Amino acid sequence: MTTGVIKNIGWLVNIREQYSLLKGAALAGLPVLANAWLRIREGRILEWGPMNTLLVHDNEQVWDAQGGAILPGWCDSHTHIVFAATREEEFVDKIKGLSYAGIAAKGGGILNSARRLQSTSENDLFNMAWERLQQLMHLGTTAIEIKSGYGLTVADELKMLRVIRRLKDTAPIPVKATFLGAHAFPEEYRSNHEAYVGLIISEMIPAIAKEQLADYIDAFCEEGFFSAEQTERICRAGMQYGMLPKIHANQLHLSGGVQTGVKLGAISVDHLETMDRPAIETLAASDTIGTLLPTAAFFLRMAFQPARDLISAGCAIALASDYNPGSSPSGNMNLVVAMSCIQMKMLPEEAINAATLNGAYAMQLQNETGSITAGKLANLILTHPIPSIAYIPYSFGTNLVKKVMVRGTWL
Ligand code: NIG
Ligand code: FE
Repeated sequence: MTTGVIKNIGWLVNIREQYSLLKGAALAGLPVLANAWLRIREGRILEWGPMNTLLVHDNEQVWDAQGGAILPGWCDSHTHIVFAATREEEFVDKIKGLSYAGIAAKGGGILNSARRLQSTSENDLFNMAWERLQQLMHLGTTAIEIKSGYGLTVADELKMLRVIRRLKDTAPIPVKATFLGAHAFPEEYRSNHEAYVGLIISEMIPAIAKEQLADYIDAFCEEGFFSAEQTERICRAGMQYGMLPKIHANQLHLSGGVQTGVKLGAISVDHLETMDRPAIETLAASDTIGTLLPTAAFFLRMAFQPARDLISAGCAIALASDYNPGSSPSGNMNLVVAMSCIQMKMLPEEAINAATLNGAYAMQLQNETGSITAGKLANLILTHPIPSIAYIPYSFGTNLVKKVMVRGTWL
């Protein structure tokens, strides 16, 4: 049933007749209606109001929220959910004290994931990723971006992107695809990085564009990985085919990735664990979104992203999971929201906006999802009854998600 009305909503969260990218102080404004109803028509949001104004139409389907909150589903704008194998051995090695270099020497890291993916069939990769995606939907994620980047050969990057294409065709939620051939230098290019950059630009990008497999272009702009200059060349090559940049920037070092992203008009620069004043001010003066990935910082035991500095400078902030086997083996956006409040001192209202409306902007899906707005998809989270909005991040680790609706249908 994709048409009906939800009654007895304790809190209807993020209702907006008009919306825009939320920058700086605006991020804290979360419009909420207590004791509400919400009408869905043909899988889209139609109208809402306070409970004492509800008129149920003849033969209309009625759902009872029983005092739970309704939120727009989470918009996870940065994931790597197509992978062949988990990497818990590295996790244990790190607990025992092995360094990043030590793990790389044992054949770990991104290249480990690439080897495993190269020897896994497209079908098996699809089945594993589809399983993960369904789990994420049940946790409230109803729009997602997925990256390639564990292929690292022309054939295997195409294979990964075809898996993402199949996820797009299969999943009931919006899916965006990002080409991340510039994730790490393969072993055989260890002493000739330029040759791999050349392969990305002259072979991978045209082949991907021919099959229209990618919406966005990404590069891991980081010391020991791709320089700001290489990132710029790769992104410009993608942009010639209409792929806008979304860049891994400033995770481990001041890589220049933020400035490069802003210069290119990137949709987003993501990670941002390592920021200085010039990077923050450059981002604040732009329309590029800073996407923070707190569970990656948590899992790698790094300092969290300076969310307060970014917000007070006037930046637009989104939150995403970075779900991947190496640095964030969780795609639970409820945890991302809680962690951003607990560890980065984001207000509950800021965190919810960053994980819904601004996350939608970070995938150019703001006209489809991210807020309770007439005409947007009825992609919604119904929570168990909660005393307040702040209770959502406060009660971290408790699953408050009772049900998830996608295009007007409960999963
Ligand atoms: O976003 N930073 C680069 N890439 C991933 C992690 C990759 C991996 O270890 O597999 C990230 O954190
Ligand atoms: Fe990532």
